[in-house]
Amino acid sequence: MKSDSRSLDERSLILVTGGSGFFGGHLTAALLAAGHAVRVADIRPPAGGTPPGAEFAACDLCEVDQVAAACAGVTHIFHLAGNPSGTRSVTDPLWDFRVNALATTNLCQAAVSASVRRMVYVSSGMVYGVPLTTPIGEDHPLTPFIPYAASKLSAEQSVLAAASTYGLDASVARPFTLYGPGEDPATSGGEVSRFLRWHLNDLPVPVTGDPDLKSRDFTHVDDAVAALRAIMDRGAAGAAYNVGTGRETTLTGLLEIIESATGRAPRAVVDAGTTDDTYRHVADIGRLRALGHRPSIGIEAGIRSMVTALGPAPQVPTLPTVFTMAGTPRAS
Ligand SMILES: NC(=O)c1ccc[n+]([C@@H]2O[C@H](COP(=O)([O-])OP(=O)(O)OC[C@H]3O[C@@H](n4cnc5c(N)ncnc54)[C@H](O)[C@@H]3O)[C@@H](O)[C@H]2O)c1
Repeated sequence: MKSDSRSLDERSLILVTGGSGFFGGHLTAALLAAGHAVRVADIRPPAGGTPPGAEFAACDLCEVDQVAAACAGVTHIFHLAGNPSGTRSVTDPLWDFRVNALATTNLCQAAVSASVRRMVYVSSGMVYGVPLTTPIGEDHPLTPFIPYAASKLSAEQSVLAAASTYGLDASVARPFTLYGPGEDPATSGGEVSRFLRWHLNDLPVPVTGDPDLKSRDFTHVDDAVAALRAIMDRGAAGAAYNVGTGRETTLTGLLEIIESATGRAPRAVVDAGTTDDTYRHVADIGRLRALGHRPSIGIEAGIRSMVTALGPAPQVPTLPTVFTMAGTPRAS
């Protein structure tokens, strides 16, 4: 019998779109470990094969029929599939809009048709644009400055429109900078993975922006997974929730933590003049805390575990460090 509960229970069939990717893979593993039934919908299968206990639905979310098939019998959806890269969105904004915004509208329609009980859309903290205040609360103005942020915001609006028009019970999650094992060095723009991959290979570490001023809310993927589950179970319909730690770490601070974890100082090559993304991007997680979520993995412990997971010579990042927009170089 299909679950009639908003929160996840033993009768739930949970669809994880993007479950073959970094964040979706960790979420799928956590849901399976908690005993839930999970269907992964992705354009490509998980790199290590479909995890035991999960179903895999090969699905391009831009294709209406494929999305409808993936949603059959589903009670809950975590929607993570799409393009996670700002850099790639600048290179190919039409593709970015298609896989982030159009695909989400498709999924909302399929979710309504399948009478899905509840959906959490994984947006991004990038929708706020350059912060006017730090930490950034959910009521901060939404001012995207790259195509990625515009497509994520458009997708959010599609979800909220489906909620008000068709009664879809949905919430939005806005993760800040995630890190953890399993990131794809070809698509990940996060500084933790990139800095570590260069440093562990004894290569210089390119740092874009003023490292004393540029700060991020580095969030371990396992904490982000716990946050998504809290939002699914207890989040309000139509509400957005920042997913972060609330802790601010400058790039200088990150380099020091990497030195402490590896026993040697990274050879940072600072290029403060070629980017204007030197701002403080830190989440106010008061709303998430009110759901009972507490981040549990400090950046020091998270980086120590990343060093172990990556090993001595991990694959180096291939995504360009800097892209140029309207004549202005920006970091990814
Ligand atoms: N990684 C971060 O730091 C971060 C931060 C904020 C938000 N997010 C969001 O989290 C989500 C997951 O990010 P990630 O880092 O795991 O990226 P990822 O690239 O590892 O995973 C994305 C997955 O989506 C799949 N996909 C792409 N287009 C598809 C399509 N048309 N149909 C079906 N599947 C498709 C890919 O095959 C991939 O497995 C994204 O929505 C991203 O915007 C990530």
